[in-house]
Amino acid sequence: MAATEAIHLSDVVGALSYALDITEGQPVGHSLRCCWLGMHIARQAGLDEGELSDLYYTLLLKDIGCSSNAARICRLYLADDLTFKQAYKFVDSRLPDVLRFLIANTARKSGMIERLQTLVHIARNGGEIARELIETRCQRGADIARTMRFNERVARGILDLDEHWDGSGQPLGRQGADISLFARIALLVQVADVFFMRGGAEAALAEVESRSGRWFDPAIVAWLRTLSGNPEVWQAMLSPDLPARVAAIEPVALVREVDEDYLDDIAAGFAQVVDAKSPFTAGHSDRVALFSDLIAAELGYPEQHRRWLRRAALLHDIGKLGVPNSILDKNGKPNEEEWAQIRRHPELGRSILVRIAALKDMAVIAGSHHERLDGRGYPHGLGEAEIGLDTRIVTTADIFDALTADRPYRKAMPATQAFAVMQADVGTAIDPDCLSALKRGFIKMQSVTASDDLRHAS
Ligand SMILES: [Fe+2]
Ligand SMILES: [Fe+2]
Repeated sequence: MAATEAIHLSDVVGALSYALDITEGQPVGHSLRCCWLGMHIARQAGLDEGELSDLYYTLLLKDIGCSSNAARICRLYLADDLTFKQAYKFVDSRLPDVLRFLIANTARKSGMIERLQTLVHIARNGGEIARELIETRCQRGADIARTMRFNERVARGILDLDEHWDGSGQPLGRQGADISLFARIALLVQVADVFFMRGGAEAALAEVESRSGRWFDPAIVAWLRTLSGNPEVWQAMLSPDLPARVAAIEPVALVREVDEDYLDDIAAGFAQVVDAKSPFTAGHSDRVALFSDLIAAELGYPEQHRRWLRRAALLHDIGKLGVPNSILDKNGKPNEEEWAQIRRHPELGRSILVRIAALKDMAVIAGSHHERLDGRGYPHGLGEAEIGLDTRIVTTADIFDALTADRPYRKAMPATQAFAVMQADVGTAIDPDCLSALKRGFIKMQSVTASDDLRHAS
C-alpha cells in the first residue's frame, strides 16, 4: 500500500479524467486538453485565484456525468453509445446536420423496419429525448462533483455544460450571461478540442467562430482568437508531457491536497460514474466494496488495509467505462467480438489507475479481478501463484454480487443459491478461505440487519 502524504488533488483528478474520456469515446487526454486550453483562455477573463482554481476542476470534470445517459442512448438510438457520443461531438445543432447525423448513426445494425420505427420515434420526440438525456448527464455530474467535495461553482459549471449562448441549449435553455461562465468556457474548449484533434488549430478556430453568438459567448470566442496566435499553446496539447503541464498550471496559492478521507470520497465519486453506466451495474461497485470488506474483516485485515481494499474494490471495474452499453446491457450471450471487448476492461482499468501515484498499487486488482486460480481467467490467464489475496477477495465479492444481482439475461439469485454455485468453483476460480470468510461475514451482517429491523419494528 502506498503512503498517502502530499497527494495533489490535481494529479488524482487529472489521471481519473482519462476514464471520462473513454466513456465519451474521445481520444484520451481530452479532459486534460480542455483544461489546458480553458485555463489559458481564462487568463483573459480577469478571474481571481479562487475562481481559476474552481474552473480548473470544472474543466477536468466537465464529463463526470457522462456515463449516466450511456444506457439510455444505447436503448433509444439502438447504437453503440461510445461511437454515437464520439460522432455527435462533431454535430452543430442546425436541423439538417442533426438529421444527417441521426440517419447515419441510428439503429445501424438493425433491420429496415426497426430502423425506421426508431427514427420516427426520435423525429416525434427528439426535443424531449435530448433534454432528458442532457438533464440526466448534467444533474448526475453535478451531484457526483458535490460527492467529491467540489463547491457550487464547480457543480453549476457542470450543470450548465450543454446550454448555448442563444438559449437553444439544454436542459433549461439558459441564455447569455445566465449560463455559468465556467460552462461557457468548458463547452467552447470541448468543441475546440474535438475539431483540433481532427483537423488542427485552424479547424478548431473555424468551428468555434462559426458557432459564435449561437453556441458560444462571442467574448470567449475572441479570447480564443487572441490565444490562437500562440502556436505553443496548441502544440502543448499534443505533447507527451501534457499531464505535467496541466498539473503545473493549477493556481499555485490554492493547490489542493488529498488526505485519506478525501481519497475515499474521490473513489466513491468515480464508483458512481462506473455504476451509472448500466442499469445492471447500479450499486455494483459499492456492494463489491462492502462484500470485500466483510471478507477482509473475517480474515483479520487491519483497519488501514481494509480501507485501502474498499477503495480498490470501488474502482475495480473502472475499465468498464470503455465498454459500450450495447454489449454490457445485451439481453443474450455476447458474441466473439463482444467478448473480446468485455475482456479488455481489466487492462483498461489497470492502465487508468497505474497513472495515479495514490492509487497505483490498486491497479493490480483492477487488472486481475477476472483471473482464475486454475489459469483459465482473463486477460492474462495468470496462475494461482500470481494472484494475491487482495485480488482473490475482490474476485470473490465480485462474483457474489454478480450472482445476487439482476443481469440482462437472468434474474438475481438468492444468497444461499449463489453460495452453492460458488462452492462448485472453489479451488478453480474462487479461493476457499475467501468464500468461507464471505459466508461468515454475510451471515453476521444479515443478523445485524435483522436485529435492526426488529428494533425499528418494536
Ligand atoms: Fe469486472
Ligand atoms: Fe465487477
